[in-house]
Amino acid sequence: MVTLPPRLVQALERFNSAHPWDHNAHYHAWILRQVPRRFGRALDVGCGSGDLARLLATRASEVHGIDSDPEIVERAREATPAGAPVTFAVADALGEGPDGSYDVITCVAVLHHLPLDEALAHFRRRLAPGGTLVVVGLARTETLVDQLLGLASVPANVLVGWVKNRGRTAPRPVSMTAVTRSAEEGFGDIVREARRVLPGVRLRRRLFWRYTLVWRRTSDDLVID
Ligand SMILES: C[S@@+](CC[C@H](N)C(=O)[O-])C[C@H]1O[C@@H](n2cnc3c(N)ncnc32)[C@H](O)[C@@H]1O
Repeated sequence: MVTLPPRLVQALERFNSAHPWDHNAHYHAWILRQVPRRFGRALDVGCGSGDLARLLATRASEVHGIDSDPEIVERAREATPAGAPVTFAVADALGEGPDGSYDVITCVAVLHHLPLDEALAHFRRRLAPGGTLVVVGLARTETLVDQLLGLASVPANVLVGWVKNRGRTAPRPVSMTAVTRSAEEGFGDIVREARRVLPGVRLRRRLFWRYTLVWRRTSDDLVID
């Protein structure tokens, strides 16, 4: 077993609080590459301070960000210029939310807050035929591969934090004030469940304690309830 020694974990935490950077936002550019250049409607589930929703709005005609935390939804609204095609609502990820289906659904660092099978089935139902689901998620460290990737993420984390903050100390970005929790499911469980609910789904372990999931709903996909 390769576990991070507690002293290394503490040193990393100290470094990250002095030179904070958003590990979720690190994947925003990658998310944009998974979706069409222009699309109609997008839903960002668990939108936090709305950074991704505002980015999606540069490509979409309409973006809805939903989050169950009223305080972070307020921050998202404050940071959004008037006239941007983005709305934010306090809503549960698995609730009905705004009417209609979506061409793009994104869900970043939120899936482990939700019942996995229910959430994936819900996203499948809300996706329009031809639409794309993009998830950046967190999984529990279980296997040697998880551990090695976690270990490799440590120096990479320090390098990115140092470069992004130009070596200076900085306050936490607003996005990092959103509610967090630890992941309970391992990557293997997530892969199994995702393959069951979303045929043809692609998942990959990533650096910085994240995995990614991409699924495109085909036009002949039959929704199972
Ligand atoms: C770690 S934050 C990620 C926020 C944002 N997606 C980002 O990348 O910065 C997790 C977010 O999920 C939200 N959340 C947790 N459970 C939720 C639920 N059942 N419905 C909607 N949002 C939820 C939290 O309020 C929090 O803003």
